[in-house]
Amino acid sequence: MTATEPLPMPDSSAQQHSDQLLKLIQQQIVASGGKITFADYMHLCLYAPGLGYYSAGSEKLGQHGDFTTAPEISPLFSRTLAHHIKDVFQQLEQPNIIEFGAGSGKMATDILIELAHIQCLPAQYFIIETSADLRERQQLKIAQLIPHLADRVCWLNELPHHFVGVMLANEVCDAMPVHCLKFSDGNVNELYIEQHQSVLQWCEGKLSHPLLATRAAEIKSFIGNIDYVTEVNLAAEAWIASLADALQQGAVFVIDYGHPKHSYYHLQRSNGTLMCYYQHQGHDNPLILQGLQDITAHIDFTALAQSAADNDLDVAGFQSQADFLIAGGITELVQQDGNTNELLMLQQASEIKRLTLPSEMGENFKVLALSRNLAHLLPRIQLRDQRYKL
Ligand SMILES: C[S@@+](CC[C@H](N)C(=O)[O-])C[C@H]1O[C@@H](n2cnc3c(N)ncnc32)[C@H](O)[C@@H]1O
Repeated sequence: MTATEPLPMPDSSAQQHSDQLLKLIQQQIVASGGKITFADYMHLCLYAPGLGYYSAGSEKLGQHGDFTTAPEISPLFSRTLAHHIKDVFQQLEQPNIIEFGAGSGKMATDILIELAHIQCLPAQYFIIETSADLRERQQLKIAQLIPHLADRVCWLNELPHHFVGVMLANEVCDAMPVHCLKFSDGNVNELYIEQHQSVLQWCEGKLSHPLLATRAAEIKSFIGNIDYVTEVNLAAEAWIASLADALQQGAVFVIDYGHPKHSYYHLQRSNGTLMCYYQHQGHDNPLILQGLQDITAHIDFTALAQSAADNDLDVAGFQSQADFLIAGGITELVQQDGNTNELLMLQQASEIKRLTLPSEMGENFKVLALSRNLAHLLPRIQLRDQRYKL
């Protein structure tokens, strides 16, 4: 395990909560004959009803949570996204928005404020959220911060048919359960979780899904015969297919950290990309703090683009987050605001740096734009488009 400092100790009620989830996981391991895939383990850790990290009641995002996302860093992120949405809306009749995994509800709030400002409001802003706890937090925030727009926001349990508009997902795919593969001595196995004297540990077994064999062969063509551990996010690929099924006309913006295939399967990632976040400390041991820490893996954007293309979506653009925000007019927004308060100006400059500098979120985060039945190219996503890297 690598962590820069020792992790903080959970208090007794958090520890009790975690023990309860651990017990459930152990029961699941026994019921499954001695081991479960890492994807099943990650699913329980994050989404077990009432106990998983995202399903239970702790504050997850922002200063008092475990990690901070771009919409939490600055409203400028979501306001800029609103201008990309406008570009799509201009080509559509009666468009709506669907946001997946809306976290605290901050992005929805700031997007709606900006769309109201530029007179481009959708009739409906749908949110599809797996976590009941986060759904409640979103409802509260939206009712408090934008009561005049709250009646446009509506939570759905499943995708609507024949959707026209824009679909958004910021840091959603990285929270989907991944399978772990281990390549050694020219062979590939899947990594599972088992228990030994009630302690969870990794073990190896056969690939649990036929698609993993196809993906393993592709990965092997990149890494050759070296020993390597990596993750495969079949859930995100299936999720893209479900969006394709629902989207009649419009665009999808998938924003997350990750890489196209050629750089994803690099030697520097030979131990995989799993990361855990607990009270703003990152480390790489998912077998502790069950239900109390976030678990994530980097996104293979080539795999998402491939799934989109296989399901007849157009891959319309692939940009770094920095280029996406600059092309969306993040700096112009600040100028248009015309703030003269020096403190606010300094704060906005520092937020823009965090969102766009290569050493911060600017390069590690990417935006994959997908579209269907749009008559014109989306102009802003052509800036330093990197589709050739996919
Ligand atoms: C890392 S948080 C990001 C939250 C928010 N988008 C942001 O940027 O602040 C991941 C979010 O995705 C949600 N989520 C995970 N899988 C999902 C899925 N298949 N459909 C919808 N939401 C999902 C989680 O419950 C959580 O709200």
